[in-house]
Amino acid sequence: MENITVVLLGLLVCVIEIVCHAPEITYVNKSIIRNIGEMAQFSCCIIGNYNNVPVCWFKLNTAKMIEPLMLSNSGNLNIPSARFTIQANDNCYNLTIRDIQEIDDGVYQCAIQIDLHTRSSADIMLKVKRIPVILYNSTKSVFVTEGEPVSLECYAEGYPNPKIFWKRTNAEILPAPYVGSIYRGNILQIKQVNRKDRGTYSCIADNGIGRGARHSVAVHVQCAPSITIPRPKLVEAFGKNINLECHVDAFPTPAIMWFKNGNQIYENHNSYSISERVMTDEITAGILSFVITADIHGDKYGDYICKAINGLGTAEAVIKVVPVSI
Ligand SMILES: *[C@@H]1O[C@H](CO)[C@@H](O)[C@H](O)[C@H]1NC(C)=O
Ligand SMILES: *[C@@H]1O[C@H](CO)[C@@H](O)[C@H](O)[C@H]1NC(C)=O
Ligand SMILES: *[C@@H]1O[C@H](CO)[C@@H](O)[C@H](O)[C@H]1NC(C)=O
Repeated sequence: MENITVVLLGLLVCVIEIVCHAPEITYVNKSIIRNIGEMAQFSCCIIGNYNNVPVCWFKLNTAKMIEPLMLSNSGNLNIPSARFTIQANDNCYNLTIRDIQEIDDGVYQCAIQIDLHTRSSADIMLKVKRIPVILYNSTKSVFVTEGEPVSLECYAEGYPNPKIFWKRTNAEILPAPYVGSIYRGNILQIKQVNRKDRGTYSCIADNGIGRGARHSVAVHVQCAPSITIPRPKLVEAFGKNINLECHVDAFPTPAIMWFKNGNQIYENHNSYSISERVMTDEITAGILSFVITADIHGDKYGDYICKAINGLGTAEAVIKVVPVSI
């Protein structure tokens, strides 16, 4: 009778001990951060007498529906990876991961299944530092009409969470209302785009790991023609071969025409020659070449009009060709 009482008491103490002393993970931090290639060791030390109860390490899956992956069972490794080792001694089960990879990021759990209904566990989060990567939902390139608003968006992933900033090529000043040449934030918004705002904008994602990620967004500003005349007045001698130049800023590319006395000038008519030269993506030079001679239409001195048209509007400008005064 006494013997049975002792045994029962002993069992009770054992059960209390098991239930009261949850496994204790003696790592200082609940979350540890590592670079790729480094190593980490998690210790799970158990208080109490658990000789017959397995102590297991799991990797939890972020998708709740998927079962946790059992990495080790007592002193045995359960996965075929040379990067993982399990060492068991003195009631401690130390899981070591060498040459840490991005896929190792996640929650690790040490657990003991005391009986069918009693499970005790503790979690450790391993955060693996990752270089920033620009996300696909970032703006690729945009076409915007002058005067309209535009938003350039940039998103990136990485650990730690990357900071995003925007710059223009050659550190040009950003469009109003931004001040200076750098804007920090995901979305760069321009309320009324001006043709001067066109060009390449770079989004840079930086989290201190590696050199940061860079993504370029081309901003194409659709605009009506605007004309500049490098030489509005030419003073030339009779018989001279000359070129009139008209620089047109427009997108889409405009049609450029020349007029004199209200009549359109055509290529090879009256020995006029018309050509164009692409200066930049948006600026085209219209060139009218001829020799100052006299013919049945009079001489070639006078006012020449350069006219440019695209889907957004028209513009014109005058170039004067005058004789050399004696
Ligand atoms: C524990 O966390 C603190 C704060 O996050 C950190 O400074 C420290 O380096 C960590 N210790 C270990 C061993 O990871
Ligand atoms: C396991 O980890 C504990 C606590 O960090 C440490 O005291 C013990 O020496 C380790 N055991 C082995 C075999 O590495
Ligand atoms: C782009 O994707 C990231 C991550 O999925 C998300 O946080 C962000 O809100 C998304 N941006 C837009 C505009 O959908």
